[in-house]
Amino acid sequence: MRYPSVNLSVLALPNRGCGMHSFMYQATIFISYRRDDSADACGRLFEHLEALYGRGHVLQDVESLAPGVDFREEIERLIGRSDVLLAVIGPYWSGPTETPGLSRIKRSDDFVRIEIEQALRQDMPIIPVLVADAKMPKASDLPRTIRGLADRNALPVRSGRDFRRDIARLIQAIEQHSRPRRARTELSPVPKTLAIASSQGGVGKTTTAVNLAASLAHQGHHTLLVDLDPRSNATIYCGAEPLNGETAVLDWLCGTGTATCDLLRSEIRPHLALLPAGGELYATETQLAELGHPEFKLWQVIESFAQSYEFIVIDCPSSIGLLTRNALVAADGVILPMQPDYFSIQNMQQLLRAIAGIRASNNPWLGLFGILVTMYGTASYLTREVMRELHDHYGRETFHTVIPRTAELAEAPVYGQTALEYAPETLGVTAYEALAREVFSRAQVWKATTALS
Ligand SMILES: Nc1ncnc2c1ncn2[C@@H]1O[C@H](COP(=O)(O)OP(=O)(O)O)[C@@H](O)[C@H]1O
Ligand SMILES: [Mg+2]
Repeated sequence: MRYPSVNLSVLALPNRGCGMHSFMYQATIFISYRRDDSADACGRLFEHLEALYGRGHVLQDVESLAPGVDFREEIERLIGRSDVLLAVIGPYWSGPTETPGLSRIKRSDDFVRIEIEQALRQDMPIIPVLVADAKMPKASDLPRTIRGLADRNALPVRSGRDFRRDIARLIQAIEQHSRPRRARTELSPVPKTLAIASSQGGVGKTTTAVNLAASLAHQGHHTLLVDLDPRSNATIYCGAEPLNGETAVLDWLCGTGTATCDLLRSEIRPHLALLPAGGELYATETQLAELGHPEFKLWQVIESFAQSYEFIVIDCPSSIGLLTRNALVAADGVILPMQPDYFSIQNMQQLLRAIAGIRASNNPWLGLFGILVTMYGTASYLTREVMRELHDHYGRETFHTVIPRTAELAEAPVYGQTALEYAPETLGVTAYEALAREVFSRAQVWKATTALS
């Protein structure tokens, strides 16, 4: 059997540096401006934005080019690193200069023009910012290559008493237009938030989420189980009531007021808390899609009480829609359960691509934590062949622990009990306990390797 290979280096466990940011979105802003008509205004903007977004996240000048470095290449690199470009436009921004009648912006070596051309070419969000009573130039006054600029909504940023109000609007526009990334808000010693996800249904996500969370709790780790599947299987598996009432669920995910804390069942078992689901999560998904940055909602909710838990385990629905994307933004690592059958390795690719996409755009701290073989039955030729392929291609990522197919794991939810309670010391339960130990020690290694690098 041959499977398409995926570049696993992009999914490797991420490095954790030691920066601290309290802001929500870690956007990098490039400010393009003309020194002789907007230097003062730009200085104020820079100061303000840098205080908010952190050093190194606001770029404004390439004055000190190292010898031999090409200006165009340097601009291309800096713009490639940025999430949004502010085109600061002063009164003479596109006006005539030395030679009467010749507009500076029309010269192909004009640096402001080069910056905007680059941003347009890279399809980057651009916000024109009008300072010192400047007016937006008409498209016909601009060279063809940057006419696209004239279509954008410009924001005036005035000085004096109006500055605060104008900059608040500008920040709102930046948050709306930039491609948001999850900020690194706290540095937990281990990757604590694990999403159990797959694009397939019936692969053992819920069984894994519940029994892994229960085993971690049983081993003394304060654990929160988050049920993000509208079918509420994990909630029911634990013997808890699913939520009902659309408002409750919407409040939960949008983190409004104290709603989330009220809904949190804080000790369903010793050391185990549950954030339950409800059928209205379906409706919530549609409503979420209408909000700004809808994939960040779960992360915002979890952030507010993440400090209380050693592990947070999220049970995802069986598709890679908005709810699963919320889990991937909130998670440090993904556990991918799979049955050792013919299509599984091929079907894995969809989730691996989603992880790579979220990692590139919204959550640079996301990694593939491990692949878990579930419902392992009699070792048929096909099963052995799939296991061999899995170890050849994903040997490092696959957990040593394999979950066997056992009746007890399927029966336990009927009684609203975790398998550990329903049938202790059976094969399936022992396997989930071993998995919890492996998850814990993998988390420590993650810490050790990244602390060294
Ligand atoms: N290791 C296992 N042995 C036997 N049955 C299992 C096992 N894991 C899951 N099941 C059963 O398979 C079905 C699908 O599992 P589930 O965990 O709900 O998958 P998912 O959440 O991925 O849809 C359920 O009926 C569950 O009880
Ligand atoms: Mg499920």
